[in-house]
Amino acid sequence: MLKILRVSKIFNPGSINEKVALQNISLHLQPGDVVNIIGSNGAGKTTVLNVVTGACPVNAGAILLKGQAIQSLPEHIRAAKMGRVFQDPLMGTAATMTIEENLALALRRGSRRRIRWGITTKDRALFRERLSLLGLELENRLKDKVGLLSGGQRQALTLLMATIATPQLLLLDEHTAALDPKTGEKVLKLTAKIIKAFQLTTLMVTHNLEQALQFGNRTVMMHEGRIILDLKGERRQRTSVKELLALFQQASGKTMDCDRLLLAK
Ligand SMILES: Nc1ncnc2c1ncn2[C@@H]1O[C@H](COP(=O)(O)OP(=O)(O)O)[C@@H](O)[C@H]1O
Ligand SMILES: [Mg+2]
Repeated sequence: MLKILRVSKIFNPGSINEKVALQNISLHLQPGDVVNIIGSNGAGKTTVLNVVTGACPVNAGAILLKGQAIQSLPEHIRAAKMGRVFQDPLMGTAATMTIEENLALALRRGSRRRIRWGITTKDRALFRERLSLLGLELENRLKDKVGLLSGGQRQALTLLMATIATPQLLLLDEHTAALDPKTGEKVLKLTAKIIKAFQLTTLMVTHNLEQALQFGNRTVMMHEGRIILDLKGERRQRTSVKELLALFQQASGKTMDCDRLLLAK
C-alpha cells in the first residue's frame, strides 16, 4: 500500500542551519495497517507525514502509494488520495464557513473542477449520515458556522473531512494532543470507528505511549531521523509502556524527552 524507500530529508543543506530530519528511512504499510509513530521532539515524525503527502520533497529515496511514486503526481491527485488531521483543531476547518460548506470543500478536494458551489440534497444526506457517526448531534447543525464548535467537535469534524472522500491513506499528527484528556479519548474512539468503517490504512503520530501500544496494529519508534524500533504482532502485545521506554533508552542511549509525553492515560 505505502512504501517509504530509503528516504532522506535534509533541511537547509549546505548551510549552517543544515538539519538532517530523516536518515535513510524505510517503512512498508500493508492495506489496513494502522501504525503509531512515537519518538522524542524533533525525531522526524511530522517530517515523515510531510514527505508522504509530498508537501516536502525528499533529498533521496522514493515514496510509493499503491506502486505509484508520490512525488511525480500532481498536487490535486495527491490530495485526493490522502486525508490529514493536524494537532491544532483550528487548522483543519474554516471557522467562518458552515459545517456543510466545510464538508463540501472536503468532498470536492482533489476534483479538477474544484468548487461547484451547489450543495446537493445527496451531499447533505451524506453529510448527515457521516456526522451522525460522531454521536455529537452535529447532523442537525449543518448550517452552523464551524467557529461555534468546541475544539473536540472541530477535531471530530476535521476527521470526517479528512475521510469523506475515502482516502487511501489517513495521516494523523498528534490530533488529540491539544484536547483535554476526556475529549481526546472521545476523538480517539471516533478515530478508531472511522478507520474501521472505511478500512483506512493509517499513520498516526502520538505522544501517548499507552495509546501507541493499544491503538492499531503496529508501533514504530523514531529517534534523530531514524526508525529505531518497529513492533507488531505478539511481541507488541507483550510490550508494556515501561518496556517501551527501556527499549528507547537501549536503542538511543537516551531517555525519551517529549513535552507532552504521557505514560498512562
Ligand atoms: N521546514 C523546516 N525547516 C528546517 N528544519 C525543519 C523544518 N521542519 C522540521 N525541521 C527540523 O527537522 C527535525 C524534525 O522535525 P519534526 O519532523 O517536526 O519532528 P517531530 O514531529 O518528531 O517533533 C527537527 O529538528 C526540526 O527542527
Ligand atoms: Mg511533530
